[in-house]
Amino acid sequence: MEATVRRTSPGDDPPQGLLVWLFEEDLESSLPSEVDRWVGGDSDRILSRAEFRGRLGDVLEMGPCGNGGPERLAFAGLGKRSEYEIDHVRRAAAAGIGRLVAAGVSRPAVLLRDLPCLPAEAARAAVEGGILSSYRFDEYKQAPRPKCTLERIEIALAEPRDLADIEEAARVGRIVAEQVLAARDLGNRPPNRKTPVHLGEYATEMAARRGIECRVFTGAQVEALRMPCFLGVARGSAEPPTLLVLEHGKKYRGRRPTIALVGKGITFDSGGISIKPAENMELMKFDMCGAAAVLAAIEGAARLALDLHIVAIAPCCENLPGGKALKPADCLETRAGKTVEIVSTDAEGRLILADALSYAATEFEPSLIIDLATLTGACVVALGRRTSGLFGTDEDAKCELAEVGRWTGDRVWPLPIAEDHHEGVKGDTADLKNSGGKWGGASTAAAFLSNFVHGRPWIHLDIAPTAWSEENRPEGPKGATGAGVRLLLEFLRRRSEAP
Ligand code: BES
Ligand code: MN
Ligand code: ZN
Repeated sequence: MEATVRRTSPGDDPPQGLLVWLFEEDLESSLPSEVDRWVGGDSDRILSRAEFRGRLGDVLEMGPCGNGGPERLAFAGLGKRSEYEIDHVRRAAAAGIGRLVAAGVSRPAVLLRDLPCLPAEAARAAVEGGILSSYRFDEYKQAPRPKCTLERIEIALAEPRDLADIEEAARVGRIVAEQVLAARDLGNRPPNRKTPVHLGEYATEMAARRGIECRVFTGAQVEALRMPCFLGVARGSAEPPTLLVLEHGKKYRGRRPTIALVGKGITFDSGGISIKPAENMELMKFDMCGAAAVLAAIEGAARLALDLHIVAIAPCCENLPGGKALKPADCLETRAGKTVEIVSTDAEGRLILADALSYAATEFEPSLIIDLATLTGACVVALGRRTSGLFGTDEDAKCELAEVGRWTGDRVWPLPIAEDHHEGVKGDTADLKNSGGKWGGASTAAAFLSNFVHGRPWIHLDIAPTAWSEENRPEGPKGATGAGVRLLLEFLRRRSEAP
């Protein structure tokens, strides 16, 4: 994939296909003149298409335009001008470029029309939307790929502008979107092709390619790190667990902030002895999407050469009901020393994270820890399928993440960790128990995790709502979404630019 910027006007060598975004208000009278020129003064023909009202998600795709114009032309609705957000551009670009590609355009251009944001921001959002929309997971299909795929996105400028800014934004957009796709590939892969050992090989290979430091601990090495909770969960499966530890920007350690990213890497969650119903159990291959997000994010951080010390940590194992599996009522010690009574072996994510968080906190003394996990069904009940749960102890980071979530479209919403949630995970026979019962399950899970960060500033993102989609969307097909990657990369980028 390429993303290029060019200055062009009607009459120049036309792009193969052109996307033009329009607000609802743009359709009230004749089209804006810079748009009209592209359609050869044929505004009326477009305005008469009753089905296209410029609503967010609406696309009108047509062609050829004749008189030396682009072969295909697509209009994508941005909704109402008064409700404008940058993510609407991303979504309109996804919908419009998706349709152009489906119509055989492999090198669509986007007309960079004036919007209530910087042109460079719009260019970035357009590139992201286009690449996200082009994603298909066909690693295990014998049949040939679809005839037309996206090769290049052009940003077409009607007026002279500062090209350097726009080119840089397009480059960032391409990297961010490609990292989202990398996370999707990991999420969509079948569990027998992404065992904890496979993920270790993936991380090693990726890290070598990107100049990232990478250690993969397995079997006895994990034992040596003293991670009794993580190993407890892993014991239910014959697949050996791995702990992935990647580091970007080690040279900044001590001079710039150290940020630790911790991702839940359950490559399949059967529930263990507290086994899940068979229906939809196959979806639990997505239970490693937290790990996928932190791997994709650290790769993106390296590609963007962010000047931060970033550590990505992913405890990876299966949660299966083997002969050595945990049992309800078992009692485990944690790496941090506290004891945990197992109420449900299906609340395994918080167990492996407890040890991984503690490892992150003591080994790297980070100025911020962010964990991502498909942790609770309760969070899906609370927030639906488009917003991740945001918890934690660092109020500044929480505000910033909420804002970055709106800006990237990778949305998060704050949920509380209150006294009653801590109360809920107090143990009867041990210090803690691993399930807080029926109510407030996302918050009791977060309260449990808060015991393992050794007082470090900490954010927990419950991505169970967002990590996979049950339907095809303009910004990607059903399956893994890469949730968290855009959020993390933009958050890290802003932190890296802060003094
Ligand atoms: N991986 C699941 C959480 C999950 C459920 C994610 C549905 C996405 C959709 C997690 O390991 C789990 O099973 N959580 C339990 C916790 C309970 C036993 C306290 C849950 O949410 O039911
Ligand atoms: Mn579970
Ligand atoms: Zn799980």
